[in-house]
Amino acid sequence: MTMLQKEKLQWSHQHLLGIRELTEIDIREVHSTAFAFKEVIRRRIKKVPALRGRTVVNLFVEPSTRTRVSFELAAQRMSADVLNFDVSASSFKKGESLLDTVLNIQALQSDIIVLRHPDAGAAHLIANHLSCSVINAGDGAHEHPTQALLDTFTLVEKLGDITGLPVLISGDIAHSRVARSLVLALRLLGAEVTLCGPATLLPQEFVQLGASVTHDFDGALPQARVIYLLRIQHERQQSGLFPGIGEFISLYGMNEERLSRCRPDVIIMHPGPINRGVELPSSIADGPHSLILEQVTNGLAVRMAVLYLLNHARLKTERCSRASARSGA
Ligand code: NCD
Repeated sequence: MTMLQKEKLQWSHQHLLGIRELTEIDIREVHSTAFAFKEVIRRRIKKVPALRGRTVVNLFVEPSTRTRVSFELAAQRMSADVLNFDVSASSFKKGESLLDTVLNIQALQSDIIVLRHPDAGAAHLIANHLSCSVINAGDGAHEHPTQALLDTFTLVEKLGDITGLPVLISGDIAHSRVARSLVLALRLLGAEVTLCGPATLLPQEFVQLGASVTHDFDGALPQARVIYLLRIQHERQQSGLFPGIGEFISLYGMNEERLSRCRPDVIIMHPGPINRGVELPSSIADGPHSLILEQVTNGLAVRMAVLYLLNHARLKTERCSRASARSGA
């Protein structure tokens, strides 16, 4: 493993709640740590002892397969004890509040809680009441920071410096926590972001994040070096935001004819889950321009990096409080 120089790490965040709270240096530090862990996950024995004796709890109050599995495997690769809190079988059903649930999880001496929740702000809320670390694994339509960190890691790994990189993000922007976190991260790294979708799925507030906005997918395609496709978030929508899926496919669906009008080196990305035949056909999802499975592999390395950095910040705090207890004695 490329040596991580612990004493040089600047990371000091107790929680990872959103890209909004991070700086460019923080993002680059997650990337460089993830580069080191990428080597670990390719080994025959894919494990390091960095989180031995620590407990990571995955609390997913919303359906998820890939993000939960990725966090679970990342924690195992770091040698942490991992508990998957099954919400369907929990006291949530008996009316216990989110806060009571996490206070109980903390009382079991857990160190890191990974929370996915349907409500925006849920991770911030619990972080304000806990001394353990909180990772936001997606809160409503608000933020999904580890997705943006793995997407930018994938681009930097592939292309090096991404300053000025023209990135087109297309689809249901309004309901996408992925889009919000990704725009923030790409802007911090100097990329040029254009957002595209039907007017009802593309709020003007995104302009304040430093992105430009268009409704003309065909017009935007030829300039893009990266096209990042988002699915329609049916579970978060009221009806009537666009005429129908057929209309969406004809105006915003990627297809072979549209691909032929893109740059020959265009990169296609998607956070998953993919709706094959809607955002893009299988020939493109599985084709040479697609980085979709690399995103998944990199998600593991990036989540190992985030766990490592949060643990590093916890160790620093624990050392400081031991030292002040000694000097106070
Ligand atoms: C995204 C999510 O859940 O926000 N997926 C993911 O984390 N893999 C995007 C989506 O659901 O469309």
